[in-house]
Amino acid sequence: MYPLSIIILLIIDNKFIVAFNNECDNLNHLCSDSMTCRDCIRKNHCCVWCYDQDFVGKRCFAKGTLQDQKCNSNGTENNVATSVTITKQNSFADVKEDVNGAVQLSPQEFNIFLRHEEPINLTITYRPAKNFPLDLYYLMDLTWSMKPDLETLKTLGSSLTTHLEKLTKNYHIAFGSYIDKPEVPYYLTDPTNRDNPCNIDGGTCEKGYVFKHRINFTNYVKMFIEKVTKSDVSANLDDLEGGLDALMQILFCGKKLGWRTNSRKLVLVATEAGMHLAGDGILGGYTKRNEKGKCLVDNDGNYVLSQYYDYPSLEEVDKQLKDKKTNLIVAAKSHMYYYYKRMADVLKEAIYVGELQINSTNVLNLVDEGYYSFIRKVNLFTTEIDGLEVDFFADCDGNGIWKKKQTCTNAEEGKEINFKVQLMLTKYQNKESDVLYIEESNIQEKIKINLNYVGSTCTCLYLEQKGQKTCDHGEFNCGDCLCEEGWTGDTCSEQCINNQNMCRYVDNNNITSLTCSGRGNCICSKCNCQSKRYQGEFCEWECPYDKSTQQVCAVAKNVHVIIL
Ligand SMILES: *[C@@H]1O[C@H](CO)[C@@H](O)[C@H](O)[C@H]1NC(C)=O
Ligand SMILES: *[C@@H]1O[C@H](CO)[C@@H](O)[C@H](O)[C@H]1NC(C)=O
Ligand SMILES: *[C@@H]1O[C@H](CO)[C@@H](O)[C@H](O)[C@H]1NC(C)=O
Repeated sequence: MYPLSIIILLIIDNKFIVAFNNECDNLNHLCSDSMTCRDCIRKNHCCVWCYDQDFVGKRCFAKGTLQDQKCNSNGTENNVATSVTITKQNSFADVKEDVNGAVQLSPQEFNIFLRHEEPINLTITYRPAKNFPLDLYYLMDLTWSMKPDLETLKTLGSSLTTHLEKLTKNYHIAFGSYIDKPEVPYYLTDPTNRDNPCNIDGGTCEKGYVFKHRINFTNYVKMFIEKVTKSDVSANLDDLEGGLDALMQILFCGKKLGWRTNSRKLVLVATEAGMHLAGDGILGGYTKRNEKGKCLVDNDGNYVLSQYYDYPSLEEVDKQLKDKKTNLIVAAKSHMYYYYKRMADVLKEAIYVGELQINSTNVLNLVDEGYYSFIRKVNLFTTEIDGLEVDFFADCDGNGIWKKKQTCTNAEEGKEINFKVQLMLTKYQNKESDVLYIEESNIQEKIKINLNYVGSTCTCLYLEQKGQKTCDHGEFNCGDCLCEEGWTGDTCSEQCINNQNMCRYVDNNNITSLTCSGRGNCICSKCNCQSKRYQGEFCEWECPYDKSTQQVCAVAKNVHVIIL
């Protein structure tokens, strides 16, 4: 069986080559007026360039024509059509023992040859894995009036475990709390109140701080509850608090707090007050910004230098959430619900706002609601490359109807959703290749796209040829001397006459067309057409720009521009 199958393959392969050559037969007219390798390659994927310097004649011709027999076969600059190859496609996988084993985007890698203005579609599929790791940071406002809420959290214990297990078997949780910068005007700072800010109300509580990270990510719920139990409330002076400072630290400190690389990341903020924003720091004299994203949490979980920076702006928070692929669930007391809803106008996709009942009794329900609202959302995006147009299409409902969008809001664990990504090169690049990544907003997996720009350059430009001829008034360019204007000949040593009449078509009635039909320049009495859309000796062919048929110029109309 084995040898037979090889023969069959070869025959198929041969047929393929014949078919391929046929496609390019009779397309010499598309190629023949190209003067340089680059123009030749850019004209059409059927055009090849002979850079063998001993070759005589027009150097650009269609693949498979007789001419290329005369060109030394290892002296041709090859050319390729736009094509897509999948180079890595592991099947989807849920999470079992190995938390890094999930596969949620497929295929994982493409290799693409992309020609100018020839759009192509890649089809990719997203399927959220079951038991995908979840990292949940519980960030609590521990100002005085949150005391009953803290008591509730202390009693959650086993219900917290069962709740999280319903979401995924691979959860980690962490805990931290915030108050505000312990300085005037946010706090009372006289000696009696500095150590016990609740003194003024006749109570006792923890010394002021802006953020305390209390326990690193762990799957040990008992230890989590232990840390919660050891926490106490504190008190500040003004109505707004330092929650965004705390949030930014949670995002900046990454691995130090135990965030896993491959996980769905949530920060739950439970609060009953608003938050200080950029600019509010001025009241305390803090104007510097933590632009570099420094982690200021020490090994004991204390925020050092807390008095040093201004509060972050919502734009900065938004950027960090996106960069760190982290979502925010705000569980706000009812009187603050609309305050945080307004914050959602800026943070949009990254935030879920829920109403926290008295004493936080429904906090776990809000975790569920937030978790599912994020898991239902799938949003694809790419890095930007100048001159490359990327459009997304989605078939969210799986009924074959494609809409131009990059987000679906009905994803479910185990269900596949298809997307198409259309790529089009609108501008030639100064490089031959690029790597583009397609990403999803909340998971770390990326699809790698190796882009090869066909026609960006010719490799023969960089080849030294043996006994290479010297060009007097021009440059050696892939086998030929490319002459400066007004010069011609094999080595650009003859001055040429630029006879514009030679670039005009005269029809039977002695009617003369514009120079190069108005679509090109007359150089040494020959037309150099301005784009590949216009071809022929006088640029008189107009090739319809229809990329659905690869036969770009097969139905070209002979359009003359006539001077009457
Ligand atoms: C890519 O797919 C979309 C959606 O089906 C379609 O509208 C578009 O024309 C396709 N593009 C190409 C180059 O086929
Ligand atoms: C968190 O883990 C880091 C090491 O990864 C450790 O240095 C730090 O002390 C831990 N923090 C707390 C609050 O346990
Ligand atoms: C076109 O011009 C040529 C010479 O300029 C002349 O011989 C010929 O008769 C003309 N033809 C017509 C149709 O006018």
